[in-house]
Amino acid sequence: MSENVAGAAGPDLPGKSVAASRTTLSHIMTATDTNLLGTVHGGVIMKLVDDVAGAVAGRHSGGPAVTASMDEMAFLEPVRVGDLVHVQAQCNWTGRSSMEIGVRVMAERWNESAPPVQVGSAYLVFAAVDEEGRPRPVPPVIPETERDRRRYQEAQIRRTHRLARRRAIMELRKNRAAEGLDDE
Ligand SMILES: CC(C)(COP(=O)(O)OP(=O)(O)OC[C@H]1O[C@@H](n2cnc3c(N)ncnc32)[C@H](O)[C@@H]1OP(=O)(O)O)[C@@H](O)C(=O)NCCC(=O)NCCS
Repeated sequence: MSENVAGAAGPDLPGKSVAASRTTLSHIMTATDTNLLGTVHGGVIMKLVDDVAGAVAGRHSGGPAVTASMDEMAFLEPVRVGDLVHVQAQCNWTGRSSMEIGVRVMAERWNESAPPVQVGSAYLVFAAVDEEGRPRPVPPVIPETERDRRRYQEAQIRRTHRLARRRAIMELRKNRAAEGLDDE
C-alpha cells in the first residue's frame, strides 16, 4: 500500500477536499455535565469529540462510519458550567477505508468577553463501513492549505506508529505464547 500526500492509499474514487467535510458542533455545558470538582466531566467532552468526528467521517465517506480508535485525547484546561464549547473537526488523512479525524475543543467562558481558549484536542480513526459493517473504500482526502498538508503529514506519522505498535504487541504476544507463558 503506498500512502502519500498526493494520492493516499488509492481507492478509485474522486478525491474530496478537507474543507468539504469540516464540521463544528457547539454545546452549552450544564450542571448535569459536571464531575465531583464541579468542572465538566472529561467523558462529556469525549462524547462531543466522537459525535463531531463521526459527522466528519460520515460526510467525507458519504455513508456510515464507525469509530475504530481514539488517541491522544488531551485536556488542556478545565471546562466550566455555562461555558459555550465548540468542537471543530476535520478529516486529516485517508487510507483505503479509514480516515483520521482531528478535533480541537474550544471554550468560550460564559462570564468573560475574551476569545475562545483551546481546552482539548484528539485524533480519532474512523472506518467507513457498508450495510454489513464491512470496511468500504473512502475518497482520498485532498489537503488544500499548508496547514492541512502539515496535518496530513503528521497523521501519516501517527498511522505509522499505530501500525508499528500493533505489530510489536502482536509479536510479543506470539513470542510469549511460543515460550509457554500464560497470563490468563
Ligand atoms: C473498525 C472495524 C470496522 C475494522 O474492521 P476490520 O475487519 O479489522 O478491517 P480492517 O483490518 O480492514 O480495518 C479497516 C481499516 O481500519 C483501520 N483500523 C482498524 N482497526 C484500527 C485501530 N484500532 N486503530 C486504527 N485504525 C484501525 C485499518 O488500518 C484499516 O485502514 P485502511 O483500510 O485505511 O488501511 C471493526 O473492527 C469494527 O467494526 N469495530 C467496531 C467499531 C465500533 O463499533 N465502534 C463504535 C464503538 S461502540
